[in-house]
Amino acid sequence: MLRKKLIAGNWKMNGKLEDGVNLARAVSAAVRKLTKPQCEFLICPPFTLLYSVKKVLRGNKVALGAQDAHTASKGAHTGDISSEMLKDIGCSYVILGHSERRTNHGESSRVVARKAAAAHANGLKTIICIGETEKERDEGRTIEVCTKQIRNSMPAGSQAFNTVIAYEPVWAIGTGKTPTPQDVEEVHAAIRKAVAKKLNKTIASRMRILYGGSVKPTNASEFLSLPDVDGALIGGASLKAEDFMAIAKSVY
Ligand code: PGA
Repeated sequence: MLRKKLIAGNWKMNGKLEDGVNLARAVSAAVRKLTKPQCEFLICPPFTLLYSVKKVLRGNKVALGAQDAHTASKGAHTGDISSEMLKDIGCSYVILGHSERRTNHGESSRVVARKAAAAHANGLKTIICIGETEKERDEGRTIEVCTKQIRNSMPAGSQAFNTVIAYEPVWAIGTGKTPTPQDVEEVHAAIRKAVAKKLNKTIASRMRILYGGSVKPTNASEFLSLPDVDGALIGGASLKAEDFMAIAKSVY
């Protein structure tokens, strides 16, 4: 298989210690029961839960990721967490440039690229998020916006083994609204072209591009069966182990 599908849960700012550990235990137990998993699993809890969740996942097939990381490895950056620190406690992935960070923290694509370069240098894989707003979509600028975000958010030297793209239309996140599967396939194919232009064709053909935005057990197979969709980044539905696993099962 050229690109193994990745089913990733973005827990966002949810979960106290007990909830997080219980959710991780439930996901871990369900994944352990699968005889031949057809996809890779990843969960991205908030910073406060990473270490405890790592202990639950030890020896399991579920990878651990964070939801942001600083551009620097250490230093005077109150409130920030570095890729080096995430790697140290057992993370293998970090989500970068999520639209909630771009909006709430004014993160530009250039900053995302610097964060991604730091993450790669520390041996983390990145999930670089891009996606258009509703206004940009209405103006027919979806592909232009996503292509530009790819160009500017992905550092030179990115490889298929250390970089995953997540296409998440901003208007579809947490709203229950989704693009049509045809729209998603069109954007994913355009993203792959943009990756080929920035890096090269071989890397682009191997790089995974996830869809995110209101993915649920009821609609997951529509997206996961598309040729250029290599997995899903799941917010709300990743907070229930049964829903998360039901989405993963639609890969089969
Ligand atoms: P959602 O969030 O599944 O709740 O729409 C997806 C995301 O923001 O990653």
